[in-house]
Amino acid sequence: MIMGTTHKVARTHRMNKIPITLALTLILLAVSGTALAQENMTILRSPAFDRHQRPPVPFVHDMHNAMAEIDDCAVCHHVYEDGVLMEYETSEDQPCSDCHPVDPQDGELGLMRAFHKRCITCHDRVDKGPLTCGGCHVKK
Ligand code: HEC
Ligand code: HEC
Ligand code: HEC
Ligand code: HEC
Repeated sequence: MIMGTTHKVARTHRMNKIPITLALTLILLAVSGTALAQENMTILRSPAFDRHQRPPVPFVHDMHNAMAEIDDCAVCHHVYEDGVLMEYETSEDQPCSDCHPVDPQDGELGLMRAFHKRCITCHDRVDKGPLTCGGCHVKK
Protein backbone atom coordinates (compact mmCIF):
# COMPACT_ATOMS: atom_id res chain seq x y z
CA MET A 1 0.00 0.00 0.00
CA ILE A 2 2.81 2.37 0.88
CA MET A 3 4.44 1.57 -2.45
CA GLY A 4 1.32 2.45 -4.47
CA THR A 5 1.05 5.82 -2.80
CA THR A 6 4.73 6.48 -3.27
CA HIS A 7 4.42 5.87 -6.99
CA LYS A 8 1.60 8.40 -7.25
CA VAL A 9 3.77 10.93 -5.45
CA ALA A 10 6.57 10.23 -7.88
CA ARG A 11 4.34 10.81 -10.90
CA THR A 12 2.87 14.08 -9.64
CA HIS A 13 6.38 15.33 -8.91
CA ARG A 14 7.16 15.08 -12.58
CA MET A 15 3.99 17.00 -13.47
CA ASN A 16 4.83 19.65 -10.86
CA LYS A 17 1.44 19.50 -9.20
CA ILE A 18 2.70 20.48 -5.80
CA PRO A 19 -0.67 20.73 -3.95
CA ILE A 20 -1.57 17.18 -5.01
CA THR A 21 1.85 15.97 -3.96
CA LEU A 22 1.34 17.60 -0.57
CA ALA A 23 -2.09 16.02 -0.21
CA LEU A 24 -0.69 12.60 -1.06
CA THR A 25 2.15 13.11 1.38
CA LEU A 26 -0.35 13.89 4.12
CA ILE A 27 -2.34 10.76 3.25
CA LEU A 28 0.90 8.78 3.30
CA LEU A 29 1.72 10.18 6.73
CA ALA A 30 -1.79 9.48 7.96
CA VAL A 31 -1.86 5.85 6.88
CA SER A 32 1.69 4.92 7.78
CA GLY A 33 3.36 5.10 11.16
CA THR A 34 6.72 4.25 9.57
CA ALA A 35 6.50 7.34 7.40
CA LEU A 36 6.42 9.35 10.63
CA ALA A 37 9.62 7.67 11.78
CA GLN A 38 11.41 8.66 8.59
CA GLU A 39 9.91 12.15 8.81
CA ASN A 40 11.64 12.59 12.17
CA MET A 41 15.00 11.28 11.02
CA THR A 42 17.75 13.90 11.22
CA ILE A 43 20.93 11.86 11.65
CA LEU A 44 22.34 8.49 10.64
CA ARG A 45 23.85 6.47 13.44
CA SER A 46 23.34 2.77 12.94
CA PRO A 47 23.01 0.93 16.27
CA ALA A 48 24.46 -2.14 14.49
CA PHE A 49 27.99 -0.73 14.97
CA ASP A 50 28.75 -1.53 18.59
CA ARG A 51 31.43 1.13 18.64
CA HIS A 52 31.44 4.30 16.52
CA GLN A 53 34.80 5.71 15.41
CA ARG A 54 33.24 8.71 13.68
CA PRO A 55 30.61 11.31 14.64
CA PRO A 56 27.02 10.73 13.39
CA VAL A 57 26.05 11.89 9.91
CA PRO A 58 23.43 14.66 9.66
CA PHE A 59 20.77 13.35 7.26
CA VAL A 60 17.35 14.98 7.31
CA HIS A 61 15.75 12.10 5.44
CA ASP A 62 12.76 13.69 3.71
CA MET A 63 14.41 17.06 3.13
CA HIS A 64 17.55 15.47 1.69
CA ASN A 65 15.53 13.36 -0.72
CA ALA A 66 13.31 16.25 -1.76
CA MET A 67 16.28 18.54 -2.37
CA ALA A 68 18.14 15.81 -4.24
CA GLU A 69 14.93 15.08 -6.20
CA ILE A 70 15.02 11.36 -5.52
CA ASP A 71 11.51 10.00 -6.17
CA ASP A 72 12.24 6.29 -5.96
CA CYS A 73 12.68 4.91 -2.43
CA ALA A 74 14.45 1.87 -3.90
CA VAL A 75 17.42 4.04 -4.84
CA CYS A 76 18.43 3.42 -1.21
CA HIS A 77 15.90 0.85 0.09
CA HIS A 78 16.40 -1.86 -2.51
CA VAL A 79 15.40 -5.52 -2.76
CA TYR A 80 17.38 -8.26 -4.47
CA GLU A 81 16.18 -11.74 -5.36
CA ASP A 82 18.83 -14.30 -6.30
CA GLY A 83 21.29 -11.49 -6.92
CA VAL A 84 18.89 -9.59 -9.20
CA LEU A 85 17.71 -6.09 -8.30
CA MET A 86 13.88 -6.02 -8.11
CA GLU A 87 12.83 -2.84 -9.83
CA TYR A 88 9.49 -2.08 -8.18
CA GLU A 89 10.14 -3.45 -4.70
CA THR A 90 11.39 -1.57 -1.65
CA SER A 91 12.78 -2.46 1.76
CA GLU A 92 12.19 0.79 3.65
CA ASP A 93 10.83 -1.18 6.61
CA GLN A 94 14.29 -2.70 7.15
CA PRO A 95 17.52 -1.08 8.35
CA CYS A 96 20.50 -1.55 6.02
CA SER A 97 22.10 -3.71 8.72
CA ASP A 98 19.41 -6.40 8.19
CA CYS A 99 21.23 -7.40 5.02
CA HIS A 100 24.67 -5.74 5.22
CA PRO A 101 26.64 -7.14 8.15
CA VAL A 102 29.06 -5.08 10.24
CA ASP A 103 31.68 -7.83 9.84
CA PRO A 104 31.28 -9.04 6.25
CA GLN A 105 32.41 -12.52 5.20
CA ASP A 106 34.10 -12.98 1.81
CA GLY A 107 32.11 -11.44 -0.98
CA GLU A 108 29.55 -9.76 1.29
CA LEU A 109 29.10 -6.00 1.18
CA GLY A 110 29.67 -4.80 4.73
CA LEU A 111 27.52 -2.17 6.42
CA MET A 112 30.04 0.70 6.38
CA ARG A 113 30.89 0.12 2.74
CA ALA A 114 27.19 -0.17 1.85
CA PHE A 115 26.51 3.28 3.37
CA HIS A 116 29.63 4.81 1.82
CA LYS A 117 29.03 3.31 -1.60
CA ARG A 118 25.40 4.42 -1.70
CA CYS A 119 25.99 7.98 -0.50
CA ILE A 120 29.38 8.84 -1.98
CA THR A 121 28.83 7.29 -5.43
CA CYS A 122 25.84 9.54 -6.05
CA HIS A 123 27.41 12.72 -4.63
CA ASP A 124 30.43 12.11 -6.81
CA ARG A 125 28.30 11.43 -9.90
CA VAL A 126 26.06 14.50 -9.57
CA ASP A 127 28.84 16.66 -8.10
CA LYS A 128 26.64 17.73 -5.14
CA GLY A 129 26.60 16.78 -1.47
CA PRO A 130 29.62 16.08 0.77
CA LEU A 131 32.49 13.81 -0.32
CA THR A 132 34.97 14.19 2.55
CA CYS A 133 34.95 12.31 5.85
CA GLY A 134 34.39 15.49 7.84
CA GLY A 135 31.75 16.72 5.40
CA CYS A 136 29.50 13.81 6.42
CA HIS A 137 30.81 12.87 9.88
CA VAL A 138 30.46 16.39 11.20
CA LYS A 139 32.22 17.18 14.47
CA LYS A 140 30.00 19.03 16.92
C1 HEC B 1 19.16 8.72 -0.31
C2 HEC B 1 18.81 7.48 0.31
C3 HEC B 1 17.39 7.25 0.76
C4 HEC B 1 16.22 7.39 0.02
C5 HEC B 1 16.06 7.83 -1.42
C6 HEC B 1 15.15 7.01 0.91
N1 HEC B 1 15.66 6.65 2.13
FE1 HEC B 1 14.61 5.98 3.71
N2 HEC B 1 16.32 5.81 4.81
C7 HEC B 1 17.59 5.99 4.31
C8 HEC B 1 18.57 5.58 5.30
C9 HEC B 1 20.07 5.61 5.13
C10 HEC B 1 17.84 5.14 6.41
C11 HEC B 1 18.40 4.56 7.70
C12 HEC B 1 18.60 3.08 7.48
C13 HEC B 1 19.25 2.38 8.66
O1 HEC B 1 19.07 2.85 9.80
O2 HEC B 1 19.91 1.36 8.46
C14 HEC B 1 16.43 5.29 6.07
C15 HEC B 1 15.37 4.95 6.91
C16 HEC B 1 14.05 4.92 6.52
C17 HEC B 1 12.96 4.47 7.36
C18 HEC B 1 13.11 3.98 8.78
C19 HEC B 1 13.03 5.17 9.69
C20 HEC B 1 13.44 4.88 11.12
O3 HEC B 1 13.36 5.83 11.91
O4 HEC B 1 13.89 3.76 11.41
C21 HEC B 1 11.81 4.56 6.63
C22 HEC B 1 10.41 4.23 7.07
C23 HEC B 1 12.19 5.07 5.32
N3 HEC B 1 13.55 5.28 5.29
C24 HEC B 1 11.30 5.28 4.29
C25 HEC B 1 11.63 5.77 3.05
C26 HEC B 1 10.67 6.01 1.98
C27 HEC B 1 9.17 5.73 2.08
C28 HEC B 1 11.38 6.50 0.92
C29 HEC B 1 10.87 6.97 -0.42
C30 HEC B 1 9.80 7.96 -0.37
C31 HEC B 1 12.78 6.57 1.33
N4 HEC B 1 12.88 6.12 2.62
C32 HEC B 1 13.81 7.01 0.54
C33 HEC B 1 17.91 6.48 3.08
C34 HEC B 1 17.02 6.78 2.06
C1 HEC C 1 16.61 -6.79 2.16
C2 HEC C 1 18.05 -6.79 2.14
C3 HEC C 1 18.76 -5.48 1.88
C4 HEC C 1 18.56 -4.27 2.50
C5 HEC C 1 17.55 -3.93 3.59
C6 HEC C 1 19.55 -3.36 1.96
N1 HEC C 1 20.33 -4.02 1.04
FE1 HEC C 1 21.89 -3.23 -0.03
N2 HEC C 1 22.10 -4.97 -1.04
C7 HEC C 1 21.43 -6.13 -0.76
C8 HEC C 1 21.90 -7.19 -1.67
C9 HEC C 1 21.42 -8.62 -1.68
C10 HEC C 1 22.87 -6.59 -2.50
C11 HEC C 1 23.65 -7.24 -3.64
C12 HEC C 1 24.68 -8.19 -3.14
C13 HEC C 1 25.77 -7.50 -2.41
O1 HEC C 1 26.54 -6.77 -3.06
O2 HEC C 1 25.86 -7.67 -1.18
C14 HEC C 1 22.98 -5.20 -2.06
C15 HEC C 1 23.85 -4.29 -2.63
C16 HEC C 1 24.08 -3.01 -2.15
C17 HEC C 1 25.01 -2.08 -2.73
C18 HEC C 1 25.92 -2.31 -3.93
C19 HEC C 1 25.13 -2.25 -5.21
C20 HEC C 1 24.63 -0.86 -5.45
O3 HEC C 1 23.39 -0.68 -5.49
O4 HEC C 1 25.43 0.05 -5.57
C21 HEC C 1 24.95 -0.94 -1.95
C22 HEC C 1 25.75 0.31 -2.13
C23 HEC C 1 23.96 -1.17 -0.91
N3 HEC C 1 23.44 -2.45 -1.07
C24 HEC C 1 23.61 -0.26 0.07
C25 HEC C 1 22.52 -0.40 0.94
C26 HEC C 1 22.06 0.61 1.88
C27 HEC C 1 22.73 1.95 2.11
C28 HEC C 1 20.95 0.12 2.51
C29 HEC C 1 20.04 0.79 3.51
C30 HEC C 1 19.50 2.08 3.11
C31 HEC C 1 20.72 -1.22 1.96
N4 HEC C 1 21.68 -1.49 1.02
C32 HEC C 1 19.69 -2.06 2.35
C33 HEC C 1 20.44 -6.31 0.17
C34 HEC C 1 19.90 -5.31 0.96
C1 HEC D 1 20.89 9.53 -5.80
C2 HEC D 1 21.77 10.58 -5.30
C3 HEC D 1 22.07 10.72 -3.82
C4 HEC D 1 22.20 9.75 -2.87
C5 HEC D 1 22.05 8.24 -3.04
C6 HEC D 1 22.56 10.42 -1.65
N1 HEC D 1 22.63 11.76 -1.85
FE1 HEC D 1 23.13 13.17 -0.45
N2 HEC D 1 22.80 14.64 -1.80
C7 HEC D 1 22.46 14.45 -3.12
C8 HEC D 1 22.29 15.74 -3.77
C9 HEC D 1 21.89 15.98 -5.23
C10 HEC D 1 22.57 16.71 -2.79
C11 HEC D 1 22.51 18.23 -2.94
C12 HEC D 1 21.10 18.69 -2.64
C13 HEC D 1 21.00 20.20 -2.82
O1 HEC D 1 21.58 20.89 -1.99
O2 HEC D 1 20.37 20.62 -3.78
C14 HEC D 1 22.90 15.98 -1.56
C15 HEC D 1 23.24 16.60 -0.37
C16 HEC D 1 23.62 15.96 0.78
C17 HEC D 1 24.02 16.59 2.01
C18 HEC D 1 24.11 18.12 2.26
C19 HEC D 1 22.74 18.72 2.29
C20 HEC D 1 21.91 18.20 3.41
O3 HEC D 1 20.84 17.60 3.14
O4 HEC D 1 22.31 18.35 4.59
C21 HEC D 1 24.28 15.60 2.92
C22 HEC D 1 24.73 15.76 4.36
C23 HEC D 1 24.03 14.34 2.25
N3 HEC D 1 23.64 14.59 0.94
C24 HEC D 1 24.18 13.09 2.84
C25 HEC D 1 23.87 11.89 2.21
C26 HEC D 1 23.97 10.59 2.86
C27 HEC D 1 24.42 10.36 4.27
C28 HEC D 1 23.58 9.67 1.93
C29 HEC D 1 23.51 8.17 2.06
C30 HEC D 1 22.66 7.65 3.12
C31 HEC D 1 23.24 10.38 0.71
N4 HEC D 1 23.42 11.72 0.92
C32 HEC D 1 22.80 9.77 -0.46
C33 HEC D 1 22.28 13.24 -3.75
C34 HEC D 1 22.32 11.99 -3.16
C1 HEC E 1 28.55 10.93 1.99
C2 HEC E 1 28.67 10.78 3.41
C3 HEC E 1 29.86 10.05 3.99
C4 HEC E 1 31.19 10.27 3.72
C5 HEC E 1 31.82 11.21 2.72
C6 HEC E 1 31.91 9.41 4.63
N1 HEC E 1 31.04 8.68 5.41
FE1 HEC E 1 31.53 7.31 6.83
N2 HEC E 1 29.57 6.84 7.08
C7 HEC E 1 28.53 7.51 6.47
C8 HEC E 1 27.28 6.95 6.95
C9 HEC E 1 25.89 7.40 6.53
C10 HEC E 1 27.62 5.94 7.86
C11 HEC E 1 26.65 5.06 8.69
C12 HEC E 1 26.10 5.90 9.84
C13 HEC E 1 26.71 5.61 11.18
O1 HEC E 1 26.25 4.67 11.86
O2 HEC E 1 27.64 6.33 11.60
C14 HEC E 1 29.08 5.89 7.92
C15 HEC E 1 29.80 5.03 8.72
C16 HEC E 1 31.17 5.10 8.89
C17 HEC E 1 31.94 4.27 9.82
C18 HEC E 1 31.37 3.16 10.68
C19 HEC E 1 30.68 3.72 11.89
C20 HEC E 1 31.66 4.32 12.88
O3 HEC E 1 31.43 5.48 13.28
O4 HEC E 1 32.64 3.67 13.24
C21 HEC E 1 33.24 4.68 9.75
C22 HEC E 1 34.42 4.14 10.53
C23 HEC E 1 33.30 5.73 8.76
N3 HEC E 1 32.02 5.95 8.25
C24 HEC E 1 34.44 6.40 8.39
C25 HEC E 1 34.53 7.30 7.35
C26 HEC E 1 35.80 7.86 6.84
C27 HEC E 1 37.17 7.56 7.42
C28 HEC E 1 35.48 8.67 5.79
C29 HEC E 1 36.42 9.44 4.85
C30 HEC E 1 37.43 8.65 4.19
C31 HEC E 1 34.01 8.64 5.64
N4 HEC E 1 33.49 7.79 6.60
C32 HEC E 1 33.30 9.34 4.70
C33 HEC E 1 28.61 8.54 5.58
C34 HEC E 1 29.78 9.05 5.04
